[in-house]
Amino acid sequence: MTVYGLDSSNGIAARLARLLGDKYAMVETKTFPDGEVYVRVPERPEGVAVAVVSTYAPQEKRLMQLLMLLEALGQWGTPVVAVIPYMAYARQDKRFLEGEPISARIVLGALESVGVDALVLVDVHQPRVLDEWFREPWRSVIPYREMASYFRGKLEKPLVLAPDRGALQRARLVAGELGAPFDFLVKERDRVTGEVRVQPKSLSVEGRDVLIVDDIISTGGTMALAAQNSLEAGAKRVYAVCSHAVMVRGALDRLLAAGVEDVVATDTVPSPVSKISVAPSLAEAVREVLGEIA
Ligand code: R5P
Repeated sequence: MTVYGLDSSNGIAARLARLLGDKYAMVETKTFPDGEVYVRVPERPEGVAVAVVSTYAPQEKRLMQLLMLLEALGQWGTPVVAVIPYMAYARQDKRFLEGEPISARIVLGALESVGVDALVLVDVHQPRVLDEWFREPWRSVIPYREMASYFRGKLEKPLVLAPDRGALQRARLVAGELGAPFDFLVKERDRVTGEVRVQPKSLSVEGRDVLIVDDIISTGGTMALAAQNSLEAGAKRVYAVCSHAVMVRGALDRLLAAGVEDVVATDTVPSPVSKISVAPSLAEAVREVLGEIA
């Protein structure tokens, strides 16, 4: 197997190659004067080709590099596995308004069209998009063990919170590893004042260290609101962890200003808080999908 990465892989490709005990090759890239991208595979794969490209901003450029790399790898006729630590355009997974496209479907369709034999993602926003629009073997890794191990021993009377019901599975997994209770936040509007508050569905945060777990921190708005409300409800300390630290518009400052003690993410998107490596979970998932395509 040969693992291919771009210079932007944030170290994940090389780590993955090391964990799989396989060869690592850095893909050549350049940008033409008009802005179009170019990639070239420097050497043919030894067996299966594993292409690692995280498609954080500038998303369009990285998506194009990924598709070009996958198409290029197809020329040798060996199986090709795409590893996309952060898959851009995954959140538009249905037509929220008439006239909108489903961008997650477009990305998955494009991956199929360049001949990918298997796909490994990290914590895709809605895994059902893969069931619906991707026909090859796939995994969406939730790095809950890594998240839990970062916080193990650091929290007193921990309670793990999901910012909404949709994120509950992730919180449940992290809580299971920590041996802690878990809950999700619900939005409630005060009928008299009109004020919107979020609070746990059934548990109390009072006197507890609260760990809020989400897939993405983008502007930090979701986490900041959850943190503020937890502190107002008597939480002792609040911590935030996510898979993808997109971190735009001063998200870190916003979270710290909201009283969050520590913000941590995996390394799918480079940022000052991307301290947890997803490479071990990715290696496990790559081995699993290889078993399905062999
Ligand atoms: C939304 O459904 C996602 O799970 C995240 O909660 C959201 O993307 C976070 O965005 P922001 O940090 O801008 O609130």
